Amino acid sequence: MPAPDDRITYRRIQSVDLPFVVEQHQQYFPRGFFARLGGRFLTRYYLTYCTSDDAIAVAATADGVRAGYMVGTISPQDHRQHILRWHRSALAVEGALGLIRHPSLVATFLRTRALLYARKLTSPRTAVLVDADNEKVAVLNHLVVLPQFQGQGIASCLIERLETAAALAGCTSIVLVTETDGQGAAYYHSTGWTVTSARTTRDGQHLTSFSRPILSGTSKASASADRLSPQNLDARREESVS
Ligand SMILES: CC(C)(COP(=O)(O)OP(=O)(O)OC[C@H]1O[C@@H](n2cnc3c(N)ncnc32)[C@H](O)[C@@H]1OP(=O)(O)O)[C@@H](O)C(=O)NCCC(=O)NCCS
Repeated sequence: MPAPDDRITYRRIQSVDLPFVVEQHQQYFPRGFFARLGGRFLTRYYLTYCTSDDAIAVAATADGVRAGYMVGTISPQDHRQHILRWHRSALAVEGALGLIRHPSLVATFLRTRALLYARKLTSPRTAVLVDADNEKVAVLNHLVVLPQFQGQGIASCLIERLETAAALAGCTSIVLVTETDGQGAAYYHSTGWTVTSARTTRDGQHLTSFSRPILSGTSKASASADRLSPQNLDARREESVS
């Protein structure tokens, strides 16, 4: 990683940053279902990260200009509870409006997501996200660095912030899902992440899952944690393709 650059600063994403974040999401992850629902839905979606104690949402600026951002979750099950408690209705409304504005998405929604979301919105159960060894994992949800700022170690610094918070929260690894043929996959391959699985979604998207251990995180997940099946783990990650 290049030496730290004083021009580049990192801070929590604020509501004033959301138009930038949403614009980058639409540009870099346009094939995802959330992006196709439109900017208003995405704004609501990112607000869930900005307001959650269990999420890390960081913006990078270079000489005061927005250069990139990252969002991740250090306790996905608690973050989900946060969404259900504070954002469920607004997300449902914006999602419905998104479907009305983009009717071609309705069939896709009914085929791939309606049942899943109905179950999630009504289920009181929250399973702790754990890996095959029953260790607690964090999730890197989205990461973008603008082309003119790439190659300066900004992505590494953003991920480091998630790693630090995840280690403090007792996570022992970070997982993510990204498009198999995207720039992100090449990046994760070259920066030491391990491929854990690859698959094609019902939308026809080719996705690869990556994982990386957090060396300083050692605590075990709660013994009472519900272990997720590999299928559930993949479905959970697919919601937020990086
Ligand atoms: C992938 C991305 C986040 C990398 O950001 P970045 O700030 O340029 O990355 P860094 O400067 O921290 O790079 C760290 C290392 O990864 C390498 N790297 C960066 N981009 C790479 C790529 N596309 N392919 C392979 N290696 C890459 C760098 O050479 C560097 O290696 P070094 O430490 O040996 O010099 C950025 O290119 C991006 O936002 N792309 C578009 C959106 C995207 O694909 N996001 C990821 C999916 S969530």
